[in-house]
Amino acid sequence: VTRSAVTGVGSYLPEQIVTNADLAKFVDTSDEWIQERTGIKQRHKARDDQPTSDLAVEAARKALADAGKQAADVDLIIVATTTPDMTFPAVAAIVQRKLGAGVGIAFDVQAVCSGFVYALSVADGFVARGLSKCALVIGAEEMTRLMDWEDRTTCVLFGDGAGAVVLEPREGQGTSQDQGMLGFALRADGTKTDLLYVDGGPGSTGTVGHLRMAGNQVFRHAVVNISEAITAACAASDIQVSDVDWFVPHQANQRIIKGVGDRLGLDEEKVISTVAMHANTSAASIPLALDAAIQDGRIKKGDLVLLEAMGGGLTWGACALRL
Ligand code: ACO
Repeated sequence: VTRSAVTGVGSYLPEQIVTNADLAKFVDTSDEWIQERTGIKQRHKARDDQPTSDLAVEAARKALADAGKQAADVDLIIVATTTPDMTFPAVAAIVQRKLGAGVGIAFDVQAVCSGFVYALSVADGFVARGLSKCALVIGAEEMTRLMDWEDRTTCVLFGDGAGAVVLEPREGQGTSQDQGMLGFALRADGTKTDLLYVDGGPGSTGTVGHLRMAGNQVFRHAVVNISEAITAACAASDIQVSDVDWFVPHQANQRIIKGVGDRLGLDEEKVISTVAMHANTSAASIPLALDAAIQDGRIKKGDLVLLEAMGGGLTWGACALRL
């Protein structure tokens, strides 16, 4: 059985850090409120002259180095993003040029905060079927560009960053002991588009627009739906939730992460959380958290890892893989 396996991981955060106290200088909020309701302490913010593709390229270079690969080896680039440099071309095509990768396949996936899990499933199809030998899957976002800085209910929640993985084919026995992607559960419910959206775009105002969210209602959907997707992804992978070594959730809110953990009876020690330092970086949050936990020595080769996310659409999903 040929599986797609993660052979390299890298991430990048823009230099500028914006603390809760910085935000409290121009919007009616406080460090105490933000930390208590979300767990967020700070977020990173890209420079004006630093588009999403620049963050993506930095993360991609590190992931390629980690995998021992050159840009010329890359034959597939998928970028999960909701904040492209321009409406088109795809950020993936711009990344291909900036990396100096040769002609191959390059496109973006738009599933907002679930984008990275969706993009992994797409890349997995290419690699497992022999259509790609070296794929880059990147989550890259500049959510701060979508903020209405007068709306305290949203502008405190998001940040910028990028994370990337290299996928390569690996042969296995077809069991959950194999290295690589084991199983996915992906979901979307388009009847809930109005709970979380950007009020702009070519077909509406013609401007970029601002993020709008019915936070309470999204929150209510999150814990139940994410828990169901995790259970389904484990079933599809022929594993039990209790077999998982590490949970790497989308980093939206510490209360959602804890709510899911409590519902599934997860050991808190096994749950990776970077929301305090990164805030919600949408499609970038999972690869950023994965890289942080590999860098600090917690997640190791051979570990069984569960990724999960939920975002605008609403979309959500989970994926189990062995590193
Ligand atoms: N500072 C101070 N007070 C605030 C702030 C703030 N930044 N934001 C809201 N408040 C106030 C509200 O106005 C409200 O005041 P009121 O009671 O006088 O009306 C009060 O705090 C409580 O507001 P709630 O919205 O009920 O607060 P809640 O506990 O629900 O927390 C939050 C809000 C953090 C947004 C939460 O609902 C949440 O995390 N929701 C999920 C969002 C999310 O994770 N989305 C993930 C997907 S993201 C993506 O896909 C792009």
